Amino acid sequence: MCGIFGYVNFLVDKNRGEIVDTLIEGLQRLEYRGYDSAGFAVDGKLFNDGDNGEIMSNIIVKCPGKVKVLRQKVADDKIDRSDVFDNHAGIAHTRWATHGQPKEQNCHPHRSDAAKGEFIVVHNGIITNFAALREYLLSKGHQFESETDTECIAKLFKHFYDLNLKAGVSPDFNELTKQVLHELEGSYGLLVKSFHYPGEVCGTRKGSPLLVGVKTDRKLKVDFVDVEFENNASAAVAQQQIGQTLSSLNGPNGATAQDLGFIPVAPGEQNLRTSQSRAFLSEDDLPTPVEFFLSSDPASVVQHTKKVLFLEDDDIAHIYDGELHIHRASTKSAGESTVRPIQTLEMELNEIMKGPFKHFMQKEIFEQPDSTFNTMRGRIDFENNTVTLGGLKAWLPTIRRCRRIIMIACGTSYHSCLATRSIFEELTEIPVSVELASDFLDRRSPVFRDDTCVFVSQSGETADSILALQYCLERGALTVGIVNSVGSSMSRQTHCGVHINAGPEIGVASTKAYTSQYIALVMFALSLSNDSISRAGRHEEIIQGLQKIPDQIKQVLKLEDKIKKLCNDDLNDQKSLLLLGRGYQFATALEGALKIKEISYMHSEGVLAGELKHGVLALVDDKLPIIAFATRDSLFPKTMSAIEQVTARDGRPIVVCNEGDAIISNDKVHTTLEVPQTVDCLQGLLNVIPVQLISYWLAVNRGIDVDFPRNLAKSVTVE
Ligand code: UD1
Ligand code: F6R
Repeated sequence: MCGIFGYVNFLVDKNRGEIVDTLIEGLQRLEYRGYDSAGFAVDGKLFNDGDNGEIMSNIIVKCPGKVKVLRQKVADDKIDRSDVFDNHAGIAHTRWATHGQPKEQNCHPHRSDAAKGEFIVVHNGIITNFAALREYLLSKGHQFESETDTECIAKLFKHFYDLNLKAGVSPDFNELTKQVLHELEGSYGLLVKSFHYPGEVCGTRKGSPLLVGVKTDRKLKVDFVDVEFENNASAAVAQQQIGQTLSSLNGPNGATAQDLGFIPVAPGEQNLRTSQSRAFLSEDDLPTPVEFFLSSDPASVVQHTKKVLFLEDDDIAHIYDGELHIHRASTKSAGESTVRPIQTLEMELNEIMKGPFKHFMQKEIFEQPDSTFNTMRGRIDFENNTVTLGGLKAWLPTIRRCRRIIMIACGTSYHSCLATRSIFEELTEIPVSVELASDFLDRRSPVFRDDTCVFVSQSGETADSILALQYCLERGALTVGIVNSVGSSMSRQTHCGVHINAGPEIGVASTKAYTSQYIALVMFALSLSNDSISRAGRHEEIIQGLQKIPDQIKQVLKLEDKIKKLCNDDLNDQKSLLLLGRGYQFATALEGALKIKEISYMHSEGVLAGELKHGVLALVDDKLPIIAFATRDSLFPKTMSAIEQVTARDGRPIVVCNEGDAIISNDKVHTTLEVPQTVDCLQGLLNVIPVQLISYWLAVNRGIDVDFPRNLAKSVTVE
């Protein structure tokens, strides 16, 4: 959804043109997440303001539409590229409209005031108390330019800055940020810049991801940054006093800071820059050239640096004078980590490039032989038929003792839970329920301390799933993540878990994450039942089956030409499509239907084959296209009987069956799509590939921008 990108250079000369290019490229790497407008802010020229003396003007360029429209606007506006900055902070944003339509006034960045633009903000997330804040700020004379919740944040910065000045305090940027955060409710990832703090940026998050990439030739003394907890008494007093100002929003008289007896703090007292951080001190204490990249997504940072630091909720990253400081508004509580590690991204640049493929979705479908292999790499010993999941090993005894397993997810990730539920129950003999995160929360479903809650997510940032995770954590359940994005909120907030290691998934339609989640869940089930001798045969069968999956997926991908022709000749002009499956293949039918809907905009429905006769059969005639999954497993005879119910009503289904299976007479089916046979519980991994390809080719034939289907975002970070 919304994306944030920021760039700070220190002692690395960059002209404005280069800075703008870096910001726009950063936004381009965030495009896949879905957005409707884009914008950035950079420094303009120095001018004499009278009140503030020499200050820097700013240039904000923003517009609805794609990043390429923004690029064109930069050219059309003839933004001067030439001025060189040896220290500069630029911020940029892609917006997914929540408050206010996608029009220019609502695009980010937002500013505190039209006159000088003292504070400029980009923001992901939603400020839930924005209406009260807006009303308060309006009453204090602030004028709003947009309908967004974000603009309140920029105005609050100025409001507090002015209050501080009136009280004789010249606040440090991070202290000011703390004062503003004190008033915000809801979720945010945000960056702020200001001419009062030239070359500096503050970034903070709550429930919305933010990371800082660091590029420097300097050898870091340690691979972490110390967290600087609140310990400045006078800052705390000031914060408390100013906090009271806005608390009076709900108060009787709308009292101001002065009314409340705001206590001035000696000038400069809060401006002391206490440096507890060790990572960014050079050995000889001389300033060293460094660049910082702040982003909501590692995919936009990896081309510059692989050294990143993921912020925790409520962290404030303050970048100034070539140093990165992590502050917290609170004093340290017991057990709270005092450092943030600087990690090395394992992602490669080519993983986020399309290569020879036309779309990311196509690339990701064709990557599945590799991505499924990577999910198993180093975790399955095919010689001894054992599975070791490093992230779960220590937790397995606890999970084995749990009362039940609840799998919680949304969309495609939910389907991977459905696809593996049965093998989980078979191998673990623990009852498993599968929940859609939003419904689970709506019902306020009971959760107990002896439950194990498994959260499955590609992005690790889906709001519904994160809220469900917090709900389960509050109730003391053990939480396990099955997540693709390393460093994501879900991966960090769960007690333990498995990274599916599918590599970045950029296409909005999830494909390779599905097959990798599926495999990770099967491996999880296998490791839970590892010590059971009676199941050794079944284990061996599944593990040997898993070993062949990457090659078998390669085989299935060879169906592409046949599928392309099928879409061209027979499916293009259809309005609706049914997918029939039962047992393991019900999840495949649901997943296929979701893919077709979201990418080709064709109505499609996954139907449990056993339910056909209970209503859906009324739709069947010689025209409605139907895809039936009839691969060999214990339910095969029942699936065949459903197919016969269809053919008896002149339906001519497209049948996904096993290679060489001549069970269905040719004149009764439209066509067959033959896939290799594997173990029953793994067959869905192969059967889903043809429907991924069908959805892709239907969409391409209909001229749809496959990687950016309308109304959808890659990572759904709002409820
Ligand atoms: C880890 C390393 C991998 C290395 C391997 C070698 C990471 C991210 N992975 O992989 O690079 O090659 O050791 O031994 O450093 N976790 C959660 N929630 C989740 C997902 C994971 O809490 O949703 C936790 C796990 O419990 C674990 C850690 O994150 O503590 C890493 O998980 P994972 O990458 O799956 O572990 P390994 O496969 O052991
Ligand atoms: C469908 C799709 C969505 C996601 C869903 C959950 O192709 O991509 O249905 O599966 O929004 O997202 P994650 O897995 O990131 O939690």
